[in-house]
Amino acid sequence: MTVAEVYTRFAAREAHGVSPAYERLALAVARDDELHALLRGLPPAKRQPNLLFAVVRLLGGPVEDPAAFHDYAVANWPAIGAEMRSRATQTNEAGRCAVLLPVLAALPQPLALLEVGASAGLCLYPDRYAYRYGDHHVGSGEPVLDCVATGMAPPARLPQVVWRAGLDLNPLDVTDPADLAWLDALIWPEHTHRRARLRAAAAVAAAEPPLLVRGDLVDDLPALAARAPAGATLVVFHTSVLYQVPAPRREAFVEVVRRLPGHWIANEDLDVLRHDALPEPPSGASHNVLALDGAPLAWTRGHGQALSWFA
Ligand SMILES: C[S@@+](CC[C@H](N)C(=O)[O-])C[C@H]1O[C@@H](n2cnc3c(N)ncnc32)[C@H](O)[C@@H]1O
Repeated sequence: MTVAEVYTRFAAREAHGVSPAYERLALAVARDDELHALLRGLPPAKRQPNLLFAVVRLLGGPVEDPAAFHDYAVANWPAIGAEMRSRATQTNEAGRCAVLLPVLAALPQPLALLEVGASAGLCLYPDRYAYRYGDHHVGSGEPVLDCVATGMAPPARLPQVVWRAGLDLNPLDVTDPADLAWLDALIWPEHTHRRARLRAAAAVAAAEPPLLVRGDLVDDLPALAARAPAGATLVVFHTSVLYQVPAPRREAFVEVVRRLPGHWIANEDLDVLRHDALPEPPSGASHNVLALDGAPLAWTRGHGQALSWFA
């Protein structure tokens, strides 16, 4: 895809109805030849809207006004480009636990959780958060995660987690102000609820830090999985990770994870993890597919805000 197509698609499929500021900004960048030329100086994987917008936010630049954004980006491109080259989008969205919970709660308890592409590990605490599926409430902790769920009975209980470990190329530490600032910059401008959620989830993780291992989801997964305690159901899971992994490595990962004991939960875009015979997604917005052991179960929205069960 061209740079213009990438930004137009982001505006329509991800930001529309979710972030008016980023929808406006992405459409403006889609028409901005000067920024296209600068972005084309970066490797294709580094040209994505989320990375550009988060880096500008991290550096203190404006993202609400497209004209001011343009001027800032052009004037500060050496610093912006350097940050975009060295960083990846590592958005860590605890809200995604709301779409994992129905699957986790239905597995044989207790659970040993292993998240690949864990970022700071905030999705490793599904047993500590509270959930609202419409009128149905589960759990009593903080943050409270809202999810519009259809096609299923919401889970009646929280899972019991006895081990939690994460694997990431670049694990983030929520007790490090610089890492927290990057996680904050990755949250979209109007999403004050997600900023509050990040602080609340970070407090949970800081109180009981997860085992976070620096490593690759293919090469280093078996060794970490071998550290899971006996007597618990090993659950390897990942949400919004595989789009950052080259296709041959995605296939290698699927082979590795299928050979492990326990269960495998994927919550990924259909473009990066294929499934056959799916029903139509609920709307034109971008959706992930939630799957257990390779069997698709539901469409989910990117930040865990909605779940449409079809299995
Ligand atoms: C968009 S973040 C998602 C974080 C978390 N799963 C969530 O849903 O909140 C993707 C994460 O995957 C990690 N990642 C990308 N490629 C990886 C690989 N080959 N091995 C391990 N982690 C990887 C990145 O460093 C990043 O932290």
